[in-house]
Amino acid sequence: MTDQSAIPPLRVGLTAPRVPPPNILVIFGATGDLTRRKLVPALFDLFCENRLPAQFCVVGFARREQSDDAFRADLRASVQQFARAKPDSASDRWEKFAQMICYHQAEFDSADGYARLAQRLNELDAARGTQGNRLFYLATAPEYYALIAERLGAANLAELGGAWERLIVEKPFGSDLTSACELNRQLRAVFDEAQIYRIDHYLGKETVQNIFAFRFANTILEPLWNRNYVDHAQITAAETVGVENRGGYYDGAGALRDMVQSHLLQLVALTAMEAPVSFDATAVHDEKVKVLRAICPLCDHDVDDVVARGQYAAGQGMIAYRDEPRVAKDSNTETYVVLKLVIENWRWAGVPFYLRTGKRLPKRATQIRIQFKPVPHPLFSRDVVSGIEPNVIALRIQPDEGIYWEFAAKRPGQAIQLSNVRMDFGYATSFGAAPGEAYETLLLDAMRGDSTLFNRNDAVEVAWSLVTPILERWAQLPPPEFPNYAAGAWGPVAADRMIARDGRVWQAP
Ligand code: BG6
Repeated sequence: MTDQSAIPPLRVGLTAPRVPPPNILVIFGATGDLTRRKLVPALFDLFCENRLPAQFCVVGFARREQSDDAFRADLRASVQQFARAKPDSASDRWEKFAQMICYHQAEFDSADGYARLAQRLNELDAARGTQGNRLFYLATAPEYYALIAERLGAANLAELGGAWERLIVEKPFGSDLTSACELNRQLRAVFDEAQIYRIDHYLGKETVQNIFAFRFANTILEPLWNRNYVDHAQITAAETVGVENRGGYYDGAGALRDMVQSHLLQLVALTAMEAPVSFDATAVHDEKVKVLRAICPLCDHDVDDVVARGQYAAGQGMIAYRDEPRVAKDSNTETYVVLKLVIENWRWAGVPFYLRTGKRLPKRATQIRIQFKPVPHPLFSRDVVSGIEPNVIALRIQPDEGIYWEFAAKRPGQAIQLSNVRMDFGYATSFGAAPGEAYETLLLDAMRGDSTLFNRNDAVEVAWSLVTPILERWAQLPPPEFPNYAAGAWGPVAADRMIARDGRVWQAP
């Protein structure tokens, strides 16, 4: 029996979530980075924690010729590197997991490849008891998404029979509003909306899900969470990494598409949305879309007042963006972007949301910082309150996951002197463990048929409708003066200037 006293108090009584029904997961793009770095390590961790169904298997679909054994050996090396659990020789857990994996070689456009796939899936159903349930995961380059969906349809693999078929679509979902709408149309010509699971892995992060709990399971916040008390919000997603080995994709995308259209706007939506009537997919999606629609279109402003961009130069021993592999030497792609959003509804009118994200910044930190207004009447003399900042609630999305509240307190002693102090909640200390991997949650949710943490078609389109006017405006401007910040620095001066124009400053996350 477990020694209950050894368990951190807040973990006592936690129940394991329901194991999903039997199914086969088919990963398109099975030899790619996402499969190796995220998907298969997440599956192995789930397997080691008994959270996968016993009747389950993974079919890797890709163009390269190789045997099942060669595919498994390659995945073993990635699991060794990226999973929490390791395929150690002391146990046979890797061998058991590897038996669930097989490889299917075919071109993405080959009708014969899908016919063979259909046959193989039927054989696996018979041999493994997976009951005809299929989860198709598009982890290829995005230009293949529509083609694969169409071929799945043509091979009768998308039809709702007695079992279920679902399609997970990785980001990027389109590259602007027109292409996103077109992709939605193409996918929905084959799959029902209810079968389509558009991933934004930020939604699978424990701390992002906790925004729902923090806001809607506590009464004391609601009276404060609005324009009467909040001065502004700062949302930062800072990365220390550069483009790593993704220059080929990133140079055609840039920070606005890569981070803002997806992850940052999702953080805005969860921070600013109204309470849904229930925690089910439709109710949550409705509220998210409603608040995203309330964001004042950026084209209504002079774009240069509300958006600025940057690209990193060499610095602190790191190379410049333009010297990264598979990046054009004269690239004008932004690796940093800052913007100011205004949400035009009763709750938020007049409260700016400042967003910034960049690569090669001094620190890896994603944080939502709600900055409250100063007290209405200063009770204490100026020297007593000097250095005292108004209240802050900061949600540390990652790392050091947690939430703190900053407030003023009297310092010990005869004289009245105030200091800012913090009440701090940390996942690791309260729950005795760091939050799990986003992909584990999202894979299990898709297997269970819960799309709450995925994006509905209208959410993706409204996010693109906010970002596309900026892309169009940038395309008309003369080339920016890039590079404009050194690797290892906090972005271009334009980012500080933008917020300073409103009499505010960025706070370090
Ligand atoms: C991805 C982007 O969606 O998110 C990457 O394409 C970025 O460029 C990554 O590095 C950040 O994710 P995380 O989970 O490391 O914050």
